Amino acid sequence: MPLKNRWFVFFVVLASALFAADLMTFSDLTPENRQKAADIYDRECYACHRWNREFAGPAMKGNVARYLDRPDSLWQYLKDPKPIHPDKYRPMEIGKLSDSEASLMVAWLFSLVRDSTAKDRPR
Ligand code: HEC
Repeated sequence: MPLKNRWFVFFVVLASALFAADLMTFSDLTPENRQKAADIYDRECYACHRWNREFAGPAMKGNVARYLDRPDSLWQYLKDPKPIHPDKYRPMEIGKLSDSEASLMVAWLFSLVRDSTAKDRPR
């Protein structure tokens, strides 16, 4: 690979690492932040999602697990949901989340998938 391209790849990798890191550390999950996330979930997500089973939308556990290696994509999706399985589901319509609410949501949902004993996991 020519040197110029290597630098380019280096910067792309660096930029995505920084972005992902920023996303995950943005809201350290204090008890207050967890409560805030749970409240947003109750208000904006619970109407259509159950953790372990399909409801109006697909089961949340699997939804989140599919994004574990790309938190930024989940953040993007929550900010601006695009149809994913139009053959199977209606497009997801949700209230607008602020940038920090979306970051908090991603961090909290990831923590719930990683720790199955979390007490604040929604049903
Ligand atoms: C009005 C119902 C509704 C609400 C409210 C809702 N969802 Fe969804 N959700 C859906 C549907 C339907 C799909 C499947 C959409 C598709 O396949 O195009 C979906 C899919 C998803 C996915 C999977 C995306 C993928 O790549 O497969 C995630 C993650 C998700 N929702 C998270 C959330 C979160 C977090 C909230 C709250 C902020 C939320 N949803 C609120 C209906 C809803």
